[in-house]
Amino acid sequence: MKNICVIGSGYVGMVTATCFADLGNKVITVDIDEKKIEKLNQGIMPIYEPGLEELVERNVNADRLSFTTSYEEGLKDAEFVFICVGTPSAVDGEADLKYVRASATTIAELMDHPLIIINKSTVPVGTGDWVADIVSRSQPEAIDFAVVSCPEFLREGSAIPDFMNPDRNVFGSTNREAAEQVADLYSPLNAPTVITDIRTSEMIKYASNAFLATRISFINEISIICERLGADVMEVARGMGLDKRIGPHFLNAGVGYGGSCFPKDVKALANMALTHGTHPQLLSAVMDINDFQRKQVAQKVRELLGGSVDGRTIGVLGIAFKPNTDDIREAPALTVIRSLANQGATIKAYDPVAMENVSNEGHNVNLVDNAYAVAEGADALILMTEWNEFKNLDMKRIKGMMREPLLVDGRNIYDPDEMRDLGFVYRGMGRGYNGEGVPNGHTAEDAAPVAGD
Ligand code: UGA
Repeated sequence: MKNICVIGSGYVGMVTATCFADLGNKVITVDIDEKKIEKLNQGIMPIYEPGLEELVERNVNADRLSFTTSYEEGLKDAEFVFICVGTPSAVDGEADLKYVRASATTIAELMDHPLIIINKSTVPVGTGDWVADIVSRSQPEAIDFAVVSCPEFLREGSAIPDFMNPDRNVFGSTNREAAEQVADLYSPLNAPTVITDIRTSEMIKYASNAFLATRISFINEISIICERLGADVMEVARGMGLDKRIGPHFLNAGVGYGGSCFPKDVKALANMALTHGTHPQLLSAVMDINDFQRKQVAQKVRELLGGSVDGRTIGVLGIAFKPNTDDIREAPALTVIRSLANQGATIKAYDPVAMENVSNEGHNVNLVDNAYAVAEGADALILMTEWNEFKNLDMKRIKGMMREPLLVDGRNIYDPDEMRDLGFVYRGMGRGYNGEGVPNGHTAEDAAPVAGD
């Protein structure tokens, strides 16, 4: 059992704190947001993450997990302090480190015994050294400390299983002994461990996210070519992914990546490269393709509606940037909604869990109670997030409720033939053989029946 303090109660902080408590440690979470801590002390979660609420409750009841707004209280018995604060994008794509700076300064000012400070927030390469510098300069008197970089690889929506069954854990420090002590905290997880220097560890995080984003943009570019040439990107991805050197993951073509990580991290890595005199051409292309995918969705709808969406009602299924989360940061759905609304369309939308966040932000969209209410009277329907409940809709009923049976499947979750048999005019992403263009062996008519067929 170790005493751990976690600074920040966002996704990374909440999951790190709760999982370490569940592994038998005594964990205290510090957040300066009084409302958040008040709610957490009432058992109300600041985020939607499957399994989190139960795990928090279990560990609070077992007296292994607590929440406070007081750094003093958090640091009192701590041996390890995890910095898990946000690092939003500044205007130029550079990560904004004001929260990291503030926590490092406060830790330094208040620490009264040796500490291992662990950076879990995604921070530009070199930040670990910068944090060490801030801490030594801000300490009223010199007390031993070490800074360790320990990047987080969890995904929203499966953060707890990702923490408990990681592919690897990475620790970077100039102080190898400190890195090994942090690695020891993770030893019950029996995962492969990489111990390295601090900058390499920070780079592993950016390179991993940038590579995954690159795979997504790669398959999205292939999907555009598939559409033009009459091939189906779903089958192409399957055929590629069976090659062990390629693997099947992150090859789903669609509306592009969103969320709080990929867009921010690819931009930040490109910015680091630029400011250090190199040309991040591949990263720039990855970002361009990702923007283009969102534009393509709006373009498909416009085309299906004869060139203009003005005065039309368009239904949107799913707003969260991916299923199993209420997170709408950089959600492709919001870009598409904004674009169509700007062109004069009325937008109706439904998301199983993200609607509260959407209404809090005041977007130009009418939120309705379920998928069928979205379809009612709609001139076109767009699937933006592949929630399971959308996979099992009564599509015959949906078609019957729509003014025109136009369906843009931004995540390729529906079977194009089935949808056409039901009478939809179906457009997927990169499904050339199945309804885009004039596929081999098909006529233009049977590939894409006209509205009302
Ligand atoms: C991502 C990484 O997967 C985590 O390893 C990392 O820890 C995290 O960022 C982070 O840096 O904090 P996350 O943003 O939660 O996790 O979501 P992903 O499941 O990776 O999906 C990211 C986006 O890519 C979503 O918009 C998703 O719809 C999209 N995506 C994913 C595709 O369009 N196609 C795919 O094949 C896979």
